[in-house]
Amino acid sequence: MLTQITSDPLEAARTIHRGGLVAFPTETVYGLGADVFNADAVARIFEAKLRPADNPLIAHIGELSMLGKLVREINPAAEKLIAHFFPGPLTLVLKKAAGVPSIATAGLDSIGVRMPRHDLAREFLKHCRTPVVAPSANLSGRPSPTTWNAVEEDLRGRIACILKGEPTEIGLESTVVDCTGLRPLLLRAGAVSLEELRTVVPETALWEPTVDEVVRSPGLKHKHYAPKARVLVGGVADSARRAYIGLTPPETEFNLVMICADADEYARTLFAFFRECDRRGIETISCQPIGETGIGRALMDRIRRAAEDR
Ligand code: TXA
Ligand code: MG
Repeated sequence: MLTQITSDPLEAARTIHRGGLVAFPTETVYGLGADVFNADAVARIFEAKLRPADNPLIAHIGELSMLGKLVREINPAAEKLIAHFFPGPLTLVLKKAAGVPSIATAGLDSIGVRMPRHDLAREFLKHCRTPVVAPSANLSGRPSPTTWNAVEEDLRGRIACILKGEPTEIGLESTVVDCTGLRPLLLRAGAVSLEELRTVVPETALWEPTVDEVVRSPGLKHKHYAPKARVLVGGVADSARRAYIGLTPPETEFNLVMICADADEYARTLFAFFRECDRRGIETISCQPIGETGIGRALMDRIRRAAEDR
């Protein structure tokens, strides 16, 4: 398949209307989109990414009026979170409407919904005139793409179109909050922090899965965000080709070093750095641990997942 690369959101939206797959930028990472109501197109997302079928997708909307097509209930806590954080890097899991094909939600009775605040993403979504389900636009298991070149690296020839934008501002995937129960549960950390969520809904809790609990956010059990190199949380491996990323300079020598000015820059840079390390044949990447407040919680979550043994 020839992958068209365009900067025109209307042209990209036409591909969605025809049932094609479009990668598009958001403030978090690039997504790989299809019309939520076109079950064949949604199925092709799983094929293009080699994504396990039990991993549900997030539906993206350009305007709040689209919510009604996706969900059947919005409780008061969800209403408050929508009022404060939409548009933005927050996904809410809500009870899904009957018309949403079950392939989009991996058979779950709920659906993740997000309204990006990214200008080009919203323009594209408005032209689509339908909610667009989109996982991150990487091959399953690879680091999420923060540039259109990273999308191209993974998906060229596998998708119809890439809507080309700037490198993404946040660099980590959205915060995911389950709003189907009595109180909101933080399923995946992101740029909207637990502290911020609690200023709006104080009873928001961290989801701590117990062994026998039904997997509430199936995607979280899959291996994620991993470069080919082995990732270390702090520490140094005695490999020949090693890299380091952190906020302060390392004490030993590395072949490749990235010093970030603050936690935001660390988050914005991490996935692109992982990909850069792979291109250069790096064997181990040492990531400096940072405090788990604000974006630090999301950053440490992604680093730990990337470091899990394969
Ligand atoms: O920032 C983001 O969220 C990006 C951009 C493109 O919006 N998208 C993204 O999608 O990261 P993805 O597919 O890589 O991650 C979606 C995750 C799932 O793996 C799952 O953990 C959670 O969101 N999720 C989606 N729908 C859910 C549902 N109905 N119930 C529980 N968790 C859900
Ligand atoms: Mg992903």
